[in-house]
Amino acid sequence: MILIKLGGSVVSDKNVPYSFNREVVEAIAEELRGFYPDESFILVHGGGSFGHPNAKEYRIREGLTGDPERKRIGFSKTHQAMLELNGLIVETFLKKGLPAYSVSSSSIFLVEEGGIVYGDVEVLRKLLERGFIPVLFGDSAVALEGGIDILSGDQIAGYLAKMFRPEKVIFLMDVDGIYDKNPKERDARLIEELSGGEIEHLLESPESAGIDVTGGIGNKLREALKIALYSEVYFINGGVRGNLSKAIRGEKVGTRLRL
Ligand code: ADP
Ligand code: IPE
Repeated sequence: MILIKLGGSVVSDKNVPYSFNREVVEAIAEELRGFYPDESFILVHGGGSFGHPNAKEYRIREGLTGDPERKRIGFSKTHQAMLELNGLIVETFLKKGLPAYSVSSSSIFLVEEGGIVYGDVEVLRKLLERGFIPVLFGDSAVALEGGIDILSGDQIAGYLAKMFRPEKVIFLMDVDGIYDKNPKERDARLIEELSGGEIEHLLESPESAGIDVTGGIGNKLREALKIALYSEVYFINGGVRGNLSKAIRGEKVGTRLRL
């Protein structure tokens, strides 16, 4: 099984509210069509400009504090915005002949301090056995301590990697991979072979593109460190046709993490 995290910055433009990058998602589906059903997949997508603005406006990460009535509305609105994005993605895959099947993350996971403390993955296992491609997403989620929180797709990828031990976990991003500094800086260099030590170094200066309430690149790198214990980990540009196929085949592309 191969686990793919579609970054919110790939499936939408984080700076334009409710923008869906249809052509990019279509191209991703076409690439997967070349591997399915010989290879099985779980997809997880991020919030992009559907999830993050809502999560920020209603301060979901602060829990059910302040005005709980407004918070409950915001919690539900954030989930609905994610369902909207998820619907667009699943529909695109179905049109390309891939049996994508939507699974709401907030219906199967409980969180505490931003991490998953309970997950019911049996349905995912059965969906895979039956040839489906489960599609999960970063979501608003029930939290054991603060009442409610945001669960990021990167956290979900980390949890699923531990449960399913996929051969590969591929992070699709809007940049070519992991750089030695913020890629917006002119002299930033792409790291083709990333080590655990380099991740520790990068974590000292994390930054993310657009509105991001879940910790951006820092969170992704922390999860990737854990995932690399079980699976091959790639970070690639999801907007460049051919990249995903290369990563699936194990060819050189983007950044490969090796502990
Ligand atoms: P996604 O939406 O794909 O889950 P994030 O927006 O959370 O990803 O993180 C990706 C962004 O992180 C990139 O668009 C890039 O601008 C930013 N970033 C900051 N530092 C780095 C780095 N060292 N390497 C790669 N990306 C970085
Ligand atoms: C965030 O998920 C989900 C919500 C804001 C509801 P991610 O943290 O995985 O999203 P991206 O990939 O950074 O957009």
